[in-house]
Amino acid sequence: MNQGSNQVLKAAITAVGGYVPDTILSNQDLEKMVDTNDEWITSRTGIKERRILKDPEKATSYLAIQAANDLISKKNLDPSTLDLVLVATITPDMHVAATAAYVASSIGATNAFAYDLNAACSGFLYGMSSAAAYISSGRYKKILLIGADKMSSIVDYTDRTTCIIFGDGGGAVLFEPSPNEFGWEDEYFRSNGSERMALRILSGGSLHPTTQDTLDQGWHNIYQEGKVVFKYAVSEMAHVAEQIMKRNNLEEGKIDYLIPHQANKRIIDATSNRLDLSNDKVLMNIDRYGNTTAATLPLLLYDYESKFKKGDKLVFAAFGGGFTWGAAHLTWAY
Ligand code: UT7
Repeated sequence: MNQGSNQVLKAAITAVGGYVPDTILSNQDLEKMVDTNDEWITSRTGIKERRILKDPEKATSYLAIQAANDLISKKNLDPSTLDLVLVATITPDMHVAATAAYVASSIGATNAFAYDLNAACSGFLYGMSSAAAYISSGRYKKILLIGADKMSSIVDYTDRTTCIIFGDGGGAVLFEPSPNEFGWEDEYFRSNGSERMALRILSGGSLHPTTQDTLDQGWHNIYQEGKVVFKYAVSEMAHVAEQIMKRNNLEEGKIDYLIPHQANKRIIDATSNRLDLSNDKVLMNIDRYGNTTAATLPLLLYDYESKFKKGDKLVFAAFGGGFTWGAAHLTWAY
């Protein structure tokens, strides 16, 4: 950017990296742990298996570092040129200090500042907006945005309504000033905190600090009112995606790919039906990874990167705890 001019730079994703742990937790494995079965899980969620970071010594930072290093080697990026490392997560290594700072130091981003972002399943989506805004302002030139969650660290594996859904993983993208006319185009974000109890970890924060009682009650695990979340997610994810498509003249199949948060295949199907999108335009990997929270969107980019062509019109949509939700439009720059 020309310093002092009013020109707005376009921010683009210029590289992608990803990582999922090797250990697979299949529906058949879960059948041995709780009262469930493959048929129920598959038909109600679309999930067949998820990945679990088994090693108790390894935390979310490990997933984030692996994803970041994958990007760094693919892009042949000198990590010391990074200005900022953002980590979207609801499972930070510790409440204090920021996981992003540890990740930045571990990957050699010696000149970067770093912080975490928590907007549950919308964390990566909102993080893309932050990264794009920093780039567009001309303030920073290289931003590494990571979405990573070790969901297995907060899942109660005796609760069949949640343990079947979540998995572990991490994904990373690099935001830079666009080398062409493509990049971040538009966003439509919302939140509704009056529904925060519907998807929550009740304890461990300032509302219910840790006590023996909170531990005994299991309040440190993730809990959701599945039906309430499902109902909101179905209507709101489609609504915001519709708004973005209208505003950007992308209706009637003019988008190349919908990149939806992977919480439940039925939510994704309902969204794509309402948007009148054919199956080949809707990206999914929920069958293999389950819901990896902040990692679902970057893991879709990681899995499908080779399909994208310069100028492809992508629409992202997410819904998660908070509630937080939104949709965004990005054109692919490489
Ligand atoms: O990423 C953040 C946002 N999260 C979401 O978007 C998740 C939204 N919610 C959901 O995806 C779904 O609500 C769930 C997958 C969590 C649950 O599916 P559902 O179709 O809403 O099931 P339900 O809670 O209405 O339960 C139906 C029945 C119940 O039995 P009864 O009362 O009808 O006898 C449950 O006890 O299924 C039972 N059930 C199970 N059965 C076998 C619940 N979990 C299981 C299970 N295996 N794992």
